[in-house]
Amino acid sequence: MEELGDKQIGRILISAEQIEQTIQRLADEISVCFSPGDNVLALIVLEGAKYFAGDLLTHIRFPIEAEHLKASSYHGGMRSAGHVDLKEPQALRRKIKDRNILLIDDIYDTGLTLAKVLDWLKACGPKSVRTCVLLEKEIPHQKQISIDFLGLTIEDVFVVGCGLDYEGRYRELPYIAGLAT
Ligand code: IMP
Ligand code: MG
Repeated sequence: MEELGDKQIGRILISAEQIEQTIQRLADEISVCFSPGDNVLALIVLEGAKYFAGDLLTHIRFPIEAEHLKASSYHGGMRSAGHVDLKEPQALRRKIKDRNILLIDDIYDTGLTLAKVLDWLKACGPKSVRTCVLLEKEIPHQKQISIDFLGLTIEDVFVVGCGLDYEGRYRELPYIAGLAT
């Protein structure tokens, strides 16, 4: 167990260095997939993905605009509540229409969040949608989502760091760790 001030976290599953390399690789993959004229709009799912997406976007080698939308299914605990709240600014719908969208989320767990966001997105009439997530849990997902740009897979444990939280804490850790039990 590692202590960080009053923070107690468990085993480090993915180091900060591995995360950096993964983000660089994802940025490279994304950079060759689009061309500068594609006018890509990155859609970042809050809260978790803003940490990882901030890094990712600085490494992408074409002009890219970014917007956010807020989705939550955990409601502060360790299990998906089974339903997803989506709060999107109204103006975003108009912006999405006919644009190439890069949807960025932190983790593909049950898939309920991504499924809900993708349904909403498709109803907005984008030109194309591609998905990018930092982590995928190795579990039978409730919703099957095709991930175009995947960072890393992890075992089925609750993790924190790189934007992932436990009751609002630990998002700022530069690595992925389990929680101390
Ligand atoms: P899903 O809808 O079950 O795929 O989960 C998506 C959301 O649940 C993510 O965006 C995270 O906010 C949260 N989540 C899922 N697994 C974890 C975890 O291990 N730690 C922290 N948050 C998680
Ligand atoms: Mg989240």
